[in-house]
Amino acid sequence: MGCEVDWAFIQAVEHRPKLTIIEAGGIPLIDLSPLNSVSPDGLQSLSGLIAEVGAACRDWGFFQVINHGVPLDLLDQIGSAAKEFFALSLEEKRRVRRDEVNPLGYYDTEHTKNARDWKEVFDFAVQDPTVIPASHEADDQELQELRNQWPTYPPALREASMEYARAVEKLAFKLLELISLSLDLPADRLNGFFKEQTSLIRLNHYPPCPAPHLALGVGRHKDAVALTVLAQDDVGGLDVKRKTDGEWVRVKPIPDSYIINVGDIIQVWSNDRYESAEHRVSVNSGRERFSIPFFFSPAHHVMVKPLEELVSEEIPAKYKEYNWGKFFKTRKLSNFKKLDVENIQISHFKISE
Ligand code: OGA
Ligand code: NI
Repeated sequence: MGCEVDWAFIQAVEHRPKLTIIEAGGIPLIDLSPLNSVSPDGLQSLSGLIAEVGAACRDWGFFQVINHGVPLDLLDQIGSAAKEFFALSLEEKRRVRRDEVNPLGYYDTEHTKNARDWKEVFDFAVQDPTVIPASHEADDQELQELRNQWPTYPPALREASMEYARAVEKLAFKLLELISLSLDLPADRLNGFFKEQTSLIRLNHYPPCPAPHLALGVGRHKDAVALTVLAQDDVGGLDVKRKTDGEWVRVKPIPDSYIINVGDIIQVWSNDRYESAEHRVSVNSGRERFSIPFFFSPAHHVMVKPLEELVSEEIPAKYKEYNWGKFFKTRKLSNFKKLDVENIQISHFKISE
């Protein structure tokens, strides 16, 4: 092992990326253009599209979409502003650093499963302010308002970010409706959960890494949210674990596409009909990489549990309910300092069969 990479970044042997990786390996690609020719309340007529989305959620938990309706210039604007921000000195970036109270802003010390991630990030909330619980303790009812922290430079970051958020949010709702329909539920069945959404957008920067066979940009994980809508640049590095054989597959960058992944909340709502997919980010020694995930998340007061329409005597609920705000708060806190609780996971709410 070279001395260029701090030991905190080094993955355990079994989690290190292989240097040859299958590209694209069958990840579904879905053309959303039928959405353009239908009125918002006529979505259920798009049976072909609904079936495609349902199959992708069931078989992969991961897919790519094209003709998604998010204007490319909005992505270009936030992308250039993000580049300018990450090019600032560490001292400058740390002026908008997150802390124990406010999880929004800049940080470069995230750990996934005890290994440090080879990346730096800037997080902002889609609603400003966003309401979450003040404490992760179950019996503490106090609430907290999260506010975005914007850097002075580049000045365009704030407006570009908020405009981008509004456009991606529309796409997220469309996907949510297609997913509802694919579960034989009314299109708007899930919309109410997002009325005071806690969605975040993350600007990710993965610098070139001298030891890409030892470290990861983000260690293997599943997204705890409902749905992730991710833009990546043309460098590549996102790997998804294929359900059929457990093989890591590289998600090929497709210009002007989004990567959609089912999060843990949809897994619970759907009572395991759809499962969140494990994924990770590999890094490389040559080129830096940028990505922008939108983490679509419900209101803090939502109690997450299998939807009653999907529960029956034959198929009983597979999860006990949990409060999203407390879950979110526990995650954010445990990722800031080591809590005396194990990193919270939906498996903790699984009802054993
Ligand atoms: C994440 C994530 C993927 C990427 O931030 O949760 O999986 O390509 N990011 O940056
Ligand atoms: Ni992720």
